[in-house]
Amino acid sequence: MKHYLVTGGAGFIGANFVKYLLKKHEDIQLIVLDDLTYAGNLGTIKEELKDARFVFIKGNIVDHQVVAKIFEKYPIDYVVNFAAESHVDRSIENPQLFLQTNILGTQNLLDIAKKYWTTGKDENGYPVYRKSVKYLQVSTDEVYGSLGETGYFTEKTPLDPRSPYSASKTGADLIVSAYSETYNLPVNITRCSNNYGPYHFPEKLIPLIIKNILEGEKLPVYGDGSNVRDWLYVEDHCKAIDLVILNGKIGEVYNIGGHNEKKNIDIVKLTIATIRRLMEENPDYKKTLKKKGNDISWINNDLITFVKDRLGHDHRYAIDPAKITNELGWYPETKFEDGIVKTIRWYLENQHWIEEVTSGEYQRYYEQMYGNR
Ligand code: NAD
Ligand code: DAU
Repeated sequence: MKHYLVTGGAGFIGANFVKYLLKKHEDIQLIVLDDLTYAGNLGTIKEELKDARFVFIKGNIVDHQVVAKIFEKYPIDYVVNFAAESHVDRSIENPQLFLQTNILGTQNLLDIAKKYWTTGKDENGYPVYRKSVKYLQVSTDEVYGSLGETGYFTEKTPLDPRSPYSASKTGADLIVSAYSETYNLPVNITRCSNNYGPYHFPEKLIPLIIKNILEGEKLPVYGDGSNVRDWLYVEDHCKAIDLVILNGKIGEVYNIGGHNEKKNIDIVKLTIATIRRLMEENPDYKKTLKKKGNDISWINNDLITFVKDRLGHDHRYAIDPAKITNELGWYPETKFEDGIVKTIRWYLENQHWIEEVTSGEYQRYYEQMYGNR
């Protein structure tokens, strides 16, 4: 039986990964370490909490004692590090927290994994590790910087982070590579494009737009809306990570992306049109609107408001996933047109989740930052 330590498993992608893993593999033990920041929520994994194969531990990845205790208690085979401060806008407000969690937290996990996995030394002084262990760092395409109108990020693209968030993720990637080179620690790094799907925190573009429509609020689009992101359905990302853990070549980086570039303004317009269509098809969905009534003609592009641009806003991201496709047979299975409908339906049917995660601390932060919009 394999033991996984999944950090950040109460957040968006981590929780989707945990759900995916428990469905896919019968004989596993999952230990989730999550500090339940504003972005982590136990409600997201409430079914998994009842599963005998699942253990939840609240704690910070930066905390040596907390992490060491887990390795002491469980024979961890795989570490999958999702835990991070993940929102670019927040990193512009408070870079330090991003460096602490994303860089120091990663280094702490690596160090403890190295210690507990070491069984001896080889003739050159390199540590020798237990068989079949691996550390997987969940990274991002943002470490490659920003593209112009053409071209793609490959694994060979030079690292060129431009926001405090992407700089912190790059720092983490570099320390992972350093542990691989210096100590031969078995690692992989995955670099994925923008995910979308259920449980996405409503500070990020797609869920924010859905939430604002349900609340009858304006839809803030940064700059002129021409920035491009490469969207991937979250379950496809989870499948890729599962494949890399099991079959990825030690020490390699794998880019993961959906070949699905969209301008922000087009994403927002499509979200508006899809919500309206789903409500017309199923009038029950109208009950989720704060503004009650049968008339939903107000759900239209006039809700869009162009606001001040993000500082240092990266223009375009686009991933070339050829390596993971050729080596591991991965490809994005969910077409965007289907994924966005599934996602919007999920939010319409799980409005209580939005309320749960946007109360308390997040709400205060949100008002402070966006109150004037
Ligand atoms: P998220 O913000 O939704 O979730 C992050 C989780 O980490 C939360 O549950 C939070 O409580 C936890 N966490 C934060 N700091 C912690 C700490 N110090 N100790 C323990 N737990 C802590 O993020 P997400 O969107 O699910 O992203 C997960 C990972 O994937 C991140 O590393 C991110 O950089 C990367 N990534 C995200 C995307 C995307 O589109 N969302 C794309 C590529 C890569
Ligand atoms: O590319 C992968 C990255 O994608 C991940 O590493 C990050 O963790 C994740 O948050 C995401 O970063 P982005 O900055 O691309 O995502 P966000 O949803 O914040 O913004 C998407 C685009 O939409 C971006 O160009 C900014 C724009 N935007 C965002 C918000 C929140 C708006 O126009 N209006 C908004 O209100």
